[in-house]
Amino acid sequence: MTLDTPSVALVTGGTRGIGHAVVAALLTEGWQVHFCGRSDSSVARALETLERDHPGRVFGHTVDIRIQGEVNSLVAGVLEQSGRVDCLVNNAGLGRFGPVDAIGGDDWREVIETNLNGAFYALRAVARSMIEQGSGWIVNVASLAAKNPFAGGAAYNASKFGLLGMSEAAMLDLRHHGIRVTAILPGSVDTDFRPPSRRKDTDWMLTGEDIARTVLDLLSYPDRALPSRIEIRPSRPPRG
Ligand SMILES: NC(=O)c1ccc[n+]([C@@H]2O[C@H](COP(=O)([O-])OP(=O)(O)OC[C@H]3O[C@@H](n4cnc5c(N)ncnc54)[C@H](OP(=O)(O)O)[C@@H]3O)[C@@H](O)[C@H]2O)c1
Repeated sequence: MTLDTPSVALVTGGTRGIGHAVVAALLTEGWQVHFCGRSDSSVARALETLERDHPGRVFGHTVDIRIQGEVNSLVAGVLEQSGRVDCLVNNAGLGRFGPVDAIGGDDWREVIETNLNGAFYALRAVARSMIEQGSGWIVNVASLAAKNPFAGGAAYNASKFGLLGMSEAAMLDLRHHGIRVTAILPGSVDTDFRPPSRRKDTDWMLTGEDIARTVLDLLSYPDRALPSRIEIRPSRPPRG
């Protein structure tokens, strides 16, 4: 893929955590970056520091990726403003956990609609323009939970198994158009994803910056190479 400058990225869920680190890393590399989050306040808070450090190259959007029409409008707006999307990072996600016999329908739907449906909406909307331009990279932030089921993880596992399946099928479809699709499967990352009660001793965990580095590494691969699935885990977790 030959990237014109400035290259344009769209990162879903860029207000904090992994997505925010990816936005910051891409900006530091000279990209123009659009990101979204669900509320005006979270988007404005994230923009405050990013704009100060990278004026004119970062744009925040209030979008709920569970709503297909909002995602389509987001992508149309990015294309209108920036002319292209070279990289989509499907990162927005959340977890709701509980035994399969107890998890409520609302929690189930929220997880599937965010982690799986939202990623599909964004991938499809962006793929159309990438096919026209003959290039692009779509990075789906899945999880090791995309291949390792765990008790209490029915909704989250289902969403991430689904995301990994979609990612690898899309990779096979889209590579013929010059578009590369990669799933990143992180282990534990120290972000707000975990409630404060489970963020006491976190030194062993990955950071958002570790995942951002993985994204940048991917983007530096030569045109002929397509890493389609990357697992990244803490090197020294507590013995359990
Ligand atoms: N942390 C981990 O250990 C870990 C491990 C493996 C994979 N992951 C995956 O990594 C991704 C990022 O997680 P994180 O740890 O960075 O979590 P986080 O700190 O809780 O951040 C989640 C991000 O997603 C956004 N988001 C959630 N629902 C959204 C929606 N409906 N529409 C738009 N944006 C939405 C949030 O934005 P607002 O709140 O501003 O709306 C926020 O920016 C997720 O897909 C998660 O499953 C995390």
